[in-house]
Amino acid sequence: MSIQSLIIDCDPGVDDAVALFLAFAAPELEVLAVTTVGGNVPAALTQRNARIVRQIAGREDVPVFGGAERPLKRPPAGAGEFHGAEGLGDLAPFEPTAGVGEGAAAEAIVDRVMSRPQGSVAVAVLGPMTNLALAMQREGRLAERLGPVVVMGGARSEGGNITASAEFNIWADPDAAAAVFASGCRVVAFGLDATHQVRATEDRIAAVEAIDSAAARATAAMLRFSQRVEREIVGWDSAPLHDPCPIAWLIRPDLFETRACRIAVETGSDLTRGHTAVEFRVEPETARHRWATAANAQGVFDLIVDKLKGAA
Ligand code: BDR
Ligand code: CA
Repeated sequence: MSIQSLIIDCDPGVDDAVALFLAFAAPELEVLAVTTVGGNVPAALTQRNARIVRQIAGREDVPVFGGAERPLKRPPAGAGEFHGAEGLGDLAPFEPTAGVGEGAAAEAIVDRVMSRPQGSVAVAVLGPMTNLALAMQREGRLAERLGPVVVMGGARSEGGNITASAEFNIWADPDAAAAVFASGCRVVAFGLDATHQVRATEDRIAAVEAIDSAAARATAAMLRFSQRVEREIVGWDSAPLHDPCPIAWLIRPDLFETRACRIAVETGSDLTRGHTAVEFRVEPETARHRWATAANAQGVFDLIVDKLKGAA
């Protein structure tokens, strides 16, 4: 089994929390750090929520670093209606025992990527891409040193979930996303085209509920909360599971179909800001980006169940 070193940059967020539980439980991943950003809820809460998830998972060995409180050029956005006012759905928040790491998220990303062999550290970006953009501003060689950057963000054929054109993470900080996609680093993007296929149906939630562990109980609580909100706000019966997709791909790439492409982000227009222009007419050998077009939803849930069965 090869082990992938990984930094997870996120804004927990119920689906971010599920992604963290999956990553923490996977021996295929060496989680070097979790970095947080203001997104679904304000930065002070995403940072605390990451520490709550870490504690439930029994992974206090992984440092958590707080990051950007606001996007590069725009006012902070929020998605509390889909994540609960405190960000973790129905889970009663508490102050975790272990604190936050010293230094900002961008600094933690630079330190870990630059101190390890070129191309060996992957970064999963599960929220607005502000921290990674700031890290690139801080260290000009970062893009060429990075391993795969796996991103939950964007929409092509599926259309947006905030506006007709844009998905939340890219819409929240389009300038950061544009900078990361243009930086030359390798990106595999899991937009709504793929994540809307991965739905937490009743059977799939029940399979998680059947596992007797703290991480599984918390994961099931996130899934139940999302199911309720999806029914109330969107009118769909089962909620999509966005953020675990890039983590699942790192463990089991065969669960997804991806295509070589070039991705650029609209930053200028008020109407279409945050739109991801995904162009498949590229030379596959030189393309730096890939776009997920399909997911094996049952396979992703089987993976989550399998890993959580071995978790604390
Ligand atoms: C993305 O937006 C957030 O609300 C979720 O956590 C996910 O990262 C989906 O559009
Ligand atoms: Ca997220």
